[in-house]
Amino acid sequence: MAHLNIAGLRKAHGPVQVIAGVDLAVASGEFFTLLGPSGCGKTTTLRCVAGFIAPDAGDIQVDGSSVLAVPPERRDFGVVFQNYALFPHLTVAENVGYGLQARRIRGEEARRRVGEALAMVQLFGLKDRLPRELSGGQQQRVALARAIVIRPRLLLLDEPLANLDAKLRHELRWLIRDVQRAQGITAIYVTHDHAEAMSLSDRIAVMRQGQIAQIGTPREIYQRPTETYVAAFTGETNTLAAKVIGEIGPGRYRVMVAGSELIAGGPPGLATGTERRLLARPESLSLAAAGKGGFAVRVEAVVYVGAGLRCEMVTEQREKLVLQLPVQTEVAVGSALTLTIDPEQAWLMAEDAA
Ligand SMILES: Nc1ncnc2c1ncn2[C@@H]1O[C@H](COP(=O)(O)OP(=O)(O)O)[C@@H](O)[C@H]1O
Ligand SMILES: [Mg+2]
Repeated sequence: MAHLNIAGLRKAHGPVQVIAGVDLAVASGEFFTLLGPSGCGKTTTLRCVAGFIAPDAGDIQVDGSSVLAVPPERRDFGVVFQNYALFPHLTVAENVGYGLQARRIRGEEARRRVGEALAMVQLFGLKDRLPRELSGGQQQRVALARAIVIRPRLLLLDEPLANLDAKLRHELRWLIRDVQRAQGITAIYVTHDHAEAMSLSDRIAVMRQGQIAQIGTPREIYQRPTETYVAAFTGETNTLAAKVIGEIGPGRYRVMVAGSELIAGGPPGLATGTERRLLARPESLSLAAAGKGGFAVRVEAVVYVGAGLRCEMVTEQREKLVLQLPVQTEVAVGSALTLTIDPEQAWLMAEDAA
């Protein structure tokens, strides 16, 4: 178990500033995820931590000591890549034991630890197979066992599930989380998949173009995004133009939205008249009971999606909304309805600068 501190990290590739000042602190035993679109610098950040890339500026500390001068194989980190990267000519057990040999752990002790690691990823029965005799999911389990068998100070995972089909992705997601918890390993996980990030992480850093847009728990990131970019990258969103009428308590506001007044949360101290984007996740919208306020919309499309009716609606200001209603709801395309937003979920965000 170890804690990680990254301060002022920068890396350029030619003229492109790939990492443009990253600061973050990961607590001991924490499952921490870097989430962002392809090309935003997640892998580069992780490779700097692993020691495969030297940053141009900044520091990376583990348990309070800089690791920048330590070569990768001496950092005692376990690394899992997207493409498994197993040794093709070594058996499963030999692949897992490789890092132990390098650390001069041999004989009975090595056999015991390999056995434990393979049991943890539920692969003990396949220990004598070669990688090519395994499925993709099994190969990634071997890679995970190989990473944890050395009892790493940090476990670094770069899109480890990206090459697997949906069912395996789910299975392995839980396995990774179980193993990380059981071992109490500090984990840094990289993904572009927000659902994966949400379900695995204690905290998430949402990245944009080499910088961190927001760091928070999955709940904070999803329900209290500071800006529209973070909201859009962490799940389905609706945003509506909103104007603050007044603050009714710290971070509680009366706002004008779609021609109606409603209650929303936001960062404290927004002045009256401030214009923001109001976040309304699809599940925070519902049909208003008669006479209970709300704002007018017209139904543009209704699609049956099994778990409910997915509806596209438009406000009088021509702002589009997507929401899901219970299957038994009567909603005809073209009809006029009144919607409300759960005031606990309505949230005021800054508009993206980008
Ligand atoms: N060795 C390299 N040389 C030049 N550009 C690179 C190199 N590695 C990464 N990049 C660029 O840096 C940016 C960030 O890459 P990367 O860290 O791999 O992003 P991510 O993992 O978030 O998809 C991309 O625009 C990529 O093209
Ligand atoms: Mg990457």
